[in-house]
Amino acid sequence: MKHFILTLATLLAISLSACSQSNKTKENNMGTKTLVAYFSATGTTAGAAKVLASAAGADLYEIQPEKPYTDADLDWTDKQSRSTLEMNDKSSRPAIKGTVRHLDDYGTVYIGFPIWWYTAPTIINTFIEKNYLKGKKIFLFATSGGSNVKKAEKDLKSAYPELDIRGSRLLNHPTAGDVKKFVEEGK
Ligand SMILES: Cc1cc2nc3c(=O)[nH]c(=O)nc-3n(C[C@H](O)[C@H](O)[C@H](O)COP(=O)(O)O)c2cc1C
Repeated sequence: MKHFILTLATLLAISLSACSQSNKTKENNMGTKTLVAYFSATGTTAGAAKVLASAAGADLYEIQPEKPYTDADLDWTDKQSRSTLEMNDKSSRPAIKGTVRHLDDYGTVYIGFPIWWYTAPTIINTFIEKNYLKGKKIFLFATSGGSNVKKAEKDLKSAYPELDIRGSRLLNHPTAGDVKKFVEEGK
């Protein structure tokens, strides 16, 4: 019995040390820089992303589709347009061109997008699934024709419960004060 307890204690000690080792590695990979990653089909979200990045002292990364969206692709009145088909298929993952360099350097990531059909375009799912964002502080921002960003936040939180999504903000015509407040929340 004594031998058994000793073996068990040794095994426990080994596994605890391995665990703290792997946590250490992750901590070491968690930088302190801030990234503003955004997708913008017609330039509006790109504008908001630039204002936000400058206020947050963040690096900017554009999430670019491998195949750019044409005007016809963006026609939401057409049931067969690319955006309608993608948004009707929850498993669609439009391919992204390129990758974020030195992702480990970032501890905070803002993810921005236009609201499509009241939520985030599925290319945002591609971005999230292609990049290891676990452990980073994540904030969402969006532009829209009037819809809120809260449904997008709820949808992404429920799709990725392992991620630390802390909040979201609609940045339609943002004032410097709005952006400053949002950045303060991220600190
Ligand atoms: C396919 C599609 C769906 C859209 N759905 C919505 C919507 O549900 N609610 C809304 O307020 N705006 C909607 N919009 C408008 C965009 O969210 C808005 O124009 C946004 O600012 C565009 O950003 P961008 O220029 O960065 O692409 C939609 C636009 C497109 C192309």
